[in-house]
Amino acid sequence: MHTIFNTLINSFIDNNVGIAQNFLPETLALHLKENLAALYANKEFRHAGTGNDVLSVKNKLVRSDMIYWLDKKHNNQYENDFFELMDLFVSHLNSTCYTGITGYEFHYALYETGSFYTKHLDQFRTNDSRKYSMILYLNPDWKKPDGGELRIFHNNSTQDIAPLNGTSVFFKSSELEHEVLLTNKPRMSITGWLKVD
Ligand code: OGA
Ligand code: NI
Repeated sequence: MHTIFNTLINSFIDNNVGIAQNFLPETLALHLKENLAALYANKEFRHAGTGNDVLSVKNKLVRSDMIYWLDKKHNNQYENDFFELMDLFVSHLNSTCYTGITGYEFHYALYETGSFYTKHLDQFRTNDSRKYSMILYLNPDWKKPDGGELRIFHNNSTQDIAPLNGTSVFFKSSELEHEVLLTNKPRMSITGWLKVD
């Protein structure tokens, strides 16, 4: 476990974007994807806002993904397995990097065909509790024409990351602007934030 945590953390230290393959054990990733698909089929997903629900028409020009918040209260085995893994990761991060993370929040995200999320920072201007962003992709067989890359804006370059099953991404919420390019097929992930409250 600690090996994969260190892979993510070390590549974050080297490149400002941590990337690890198979951060989620394969069977857990599969169960989470099935859980996501079942919730979506049951119409449990909602259009995501951008922090100001009054501007919902404008929001859809900024992002068109749909989300469902994970919650320990759901008593779902796979959501709970995921939280257990994140608890281990957070305590490893806090003990090795003195990050002082005190909590987290995660949602499933489903980008239907034609969806996107324009360039943004994950930290709200009015609330800086989100310290680190983390995205875990759940899409087997992602190919170049499928689009839907995560585009990260570095100082003098951009970096595109395909949302391929097993890939996990980790970066500082206040620093790195990023966008999700238009996807040509449904795109599934778990996205969340490690917080200091
Ligand atoms: C977000 C986000 C990126 C992705 O939800 O804030 O930037 O690759 N997601 O899904
Ligand atoms: Ni984001």
